[in-house]
Amino acid sequence: MTGTERTGTEGTGTERTGTERKRLHVITWGCQMNVYDSGRMADVLAPIGYAPAAVPDGADMVILNTCHIRDKAAEKVFSELGRLRRLKEATGNRMILAVAGCVAQAKGAEILVRAPYVDIVLGPQTYHRLPEMVARAARTRSRGNGRGAGVIETDFPPEDKFDQLPQSDAPQGVTAFLTVQEGCDKFCSFCVVPYTRGAEQSRSADSILREACHLAAQGAREITVLGQNVNAWHGEAPAGSSGAWGLGRLLRALAEIPGLCRLRYTTSHPRDMDDDLIGAHRDLPALMPYLHLPVQSGSDRVLAAMNRKHSAADYRRLVERLRAARPDLALSSDFIVGHPGETEADFEATMALVREVRFAQAYSFKYSPRPGTPAAGAAMQVAEADKDRRLRTLQALLRDQQGEFAAGCVGLDLAVLFTGFGRHPGQIVGRSPFLQPVHVMGQAGLIGTESIVRIVADMPNSLAGTLVEERRIA
Ligand code: SAH
Ligand code: SF4
Ligand code: F3S
Repeated sequence: MTGTERTGTEGTGTERTGTERKRLHVITWGCQMNVYDSGRMADVLAPIGYAPAAVPDGADMVILNTCHIRDKAAEKVFSELGRLRRLKEATGNRMILAVAGCVAQAKGAEILVRAPYVDIVLGPQTYHRLPEMVARAARTRSRGNGRGAGVIETDFPPEDKFDQLPQSDAPQGVTAFLTVQEGCDKFCSFCVVPYTRGAEQSRSADSILREACHLAAQGAREITVLGQNVNAWHGEAPAGSSGAWGLGRLLRALAEIPGLCRLRYTTSHPRDMDDDLIGAHRDLPALMPYLHLPVQSGSDRVLAAMNRKHSAADYRRLVERLRAARPDLALSSDFIVGHPGETEADFEATMALVREVRFAQAYSFKYSPRPGTPAAGAAMQVAEADKDRRLRTLQALLRDQQGEFAAGCVGLDLAVLFTGFGRHPGQIVGRSPFLQPVHVMGQAGLIGTESIVRIVADMPNSLAGTLVEERRIA
């Protein structure tokens, strides 16, 4: 789970008869789980009349779904709120403005102090209560200046939000996310997630399988199973089976759902990769040969300081076992450079691990001190100039490896699941098993199906190919 890119997700709610139609725009920053949550917030608001709006201008409600992972991600919330304030004023203050996600969880009331025109602040565990929050916000607002008492819901409620969410009846894309696990008990020294998302919690297998069947029936062909530590997922076996299930067993059950041809999961922790899950990579053709398995550093000293509870050798061994199970497995990782105490020798150990493992893709970040986390107060913070240099060096190596991996795909026949139209007329785009975007000239009717494509060229972030064989999936 990475990145703080703006994904610009729109609400996916649908209009209901008998209720006044209102327009909802959702802005999504952060990880895939935020993308999933934004969709579910739209689902929750659909029954009270909110339908998606492509732009925030003139909307009845705007939700800013935020990310707290690094300083930059958190700070840009307030500049975005300044922009939204002007849009709210342009509606005569009719627009309801909500801040959701991990910054809302971390900063709570501070948001209402710095941005009193915000109507609702809600954490990631309370969005099933949104309709009630909207009603409260509408009641408390003093008409005219658009300022209400400000509704805050950032507790960790006892009820399970997944039991309260309505089933989405919005049309589904070809690829879908499905959250199965949330929260984290690992407490890495640098990370805010255990504080913003709370303790590790797994959804029941029954509720996950029900949602997956529904997604497939709505048109999804690929599901990415999500969790902050998705491979820590464990649950009671569904009715009719016995014992406890881990993620490997859950993936085996998901692979049997008619219509689903691809499965992925993210993000995994190296410590929670058990034999059954590794075996699933060997046994399940639907499980795509691409795994995001963050290592963060190649230095045992730094890994210990990070509280990762695994060594660089543990990671190397794990990669070996995974590649033995699935020889074509492409690996992706996250790296942090400049964690407190990281020396040049530690950084070199990270470079050595990257050279050895070889990654098809990776995300790398400069360490960003986060308030309330152990590393933020640690001695031996690394100078900004050293962080900059190390990041540039590491990214150059990772870029080369990504390029080599893509170049190695040229000439291969790969299964591509088509997801939409490309930028040029007649072009469609899909994903390779290794998650690379692939462009081909092809009929619109192929969207939603998997076909064999001969890869003919590699670009910095995508591949181009020609259709070899249409392998339509019902
Ligand atoms: N649960 C996942 C990662 C979640 S956060 C895991 O355990 O790997 C996504 C990534 O953001 C992390 O893998 C880490 O590389 C990066 N990250 C988290 N906190 C950070 C910080 N304080 N500074 C820089 N990068 C950070
Ligand atoms: Fe953050 Fe570590 Fe938990 Fe990942 S495992 S979410 S990096 S605390
Ligand atoms: Fe960001 Fe929260 Fe995801 S901090 S990375 S949105 S879990």
